[in-house]
Amino acid sequence: MRRSVLCIALFSAVSFQSAAAGNLADFKRPLAIPFDKVTPYSLQLATLGKMLFFDPRLSGAKNMNCASCHNPSFGFEVPVKTPVGAANTHLARQAPTILNVAWTTSLFWDGRAPTLEAQAAGPITAAAEMNGKLDQIVADLRVISDYDSWFKQIFPDKGATQETLLAAIATYERTVVSAWSPFDRWVDGDQTAVSDSAKRGFELFTGKANCSVCHTGWNFTDHKFHNTGLPTNDIGRASLEPNNPKALHAFKTPSLRNTLYRGPYMHDGSLATMEEVIAHYESGGVEGPSRSDHISPFFATDHEREDLIAFLKTLTPEQQDLLLPTLPN
Ligand code: HEC
Ligand code: HEC
Repeated sequence: MRRSVLCIALFSAVSFQSAAAGNLADFKRPLAIPFDKVTPYSLQLATLGKMLFFDPRLSGAKNMNCASCHNPSFGFEVPVKTPVGAANTHLARQAPTILNVAWTTSLFWDGRAPTLEAQAAGPITAAAEMNGKLDQIVADLRVISDYDSWFKQIFPDKGATQETLLAAIATYERTVVSAWSPFDRWVDGDQTAVSDSAKRGFELFTGKANCSVCHTGWNFTDHKFHNTGLPTNDIGRASLEPNNPKALHAFKTPSLRNTLYRGPYMHDGSLATMEEVIAHYESGGVEGPSRSDHISPFFATDHEREDLIAFLKTLTPEQQDLLLPTLPN
């Protein structure tokens, strides 16, 4: 009799644990970057792309580079709701990070660009962003002798062209990967890498708070589009899928890597802190037919909120430095 009670107790303790805790192995990092097959990775090409990413001569007034809005010190974002571009006006949306974009299947908050190569032309030429003319920029690069000779070494048939310029930037972007964080060390087996509070937070994230339904896998995104109930006039994904009722006000699930540096949050930068983000999800936001079925109000205690935030913090590495390139004249 005693023995059978003990057995039941053990069994239920074990099954409770596996039901509550998310599976850490589902969050294991990949070891290789998926590079483009048309223009394969080379160190030379990525280095050239890095120079171009930081070169203000890619903008009409030669005063803005990609890092003006994707600043490495802020997790490749900028600490404003929506950035100000060449026309001195706020853009419609917040600048998303370019960390881990090598794994991103469609780009922009609404997913309208299929590849990094296709995406990069957008900000350079958009009047409200960098207001550059690609033909003019390519012509300018060709008279800078170092640029000219690097392009010719890497692309002997083409040299600097629109296409090779965009290939270089895209290749550099694919090398921008979030560094190993305490969470990764925990996934790799180091039980001391994160606090008990963070471990409880992970259980909430993958359990009661339901976050990992959309923030899945090592990069914490399903690469899909959801309306999380934020009040917004931006139609989001509906501009590409007008007949999908769930696409209205839906935006791409962002990665949660390095988020400590990446506030304010959401497509419109409307939530300033992680506390505000959690409060939004707890409330379930604005109800409506297009709100995701995975979003519904839930109750969290103060301790649970602290645990959830402690967990989210473990996704940011202690240090991630970046050496800025010297640009040729
Ligand atoms: C003036 C600010 C600004 C500049 C300059 C800028 N961007 Fe952006 N970038 C944005 C904004 C805002 C978005 C989101 C727009 C949207 O989703 O509609 C974005 C989106 C992106 C994305 C998509 C990321 C994702 O996860 O979907 C990439 C990649 C990107 N930019 C790369 C670049 C590159 C490369 C340059 C330089 C050639 C550049 N950006 C210059 C503001 C800027
Ligand atoms: C239905 C899918 C879904 C669920 C469930 C979900 N998220 Fe999100 N998350 C998203 C989408 C989509 C966005 C962007 C929404 C927007 O900008 O309108 C987002 C944005 C965020 C951001 C802002 C990131 C940034 O770079 O701006 C954080 C932080 C976040 N979610 C954390 C959480 C947490 C914590 C939970 C659980 C309490 C959660 N999410 C549940 C889909 C989801």
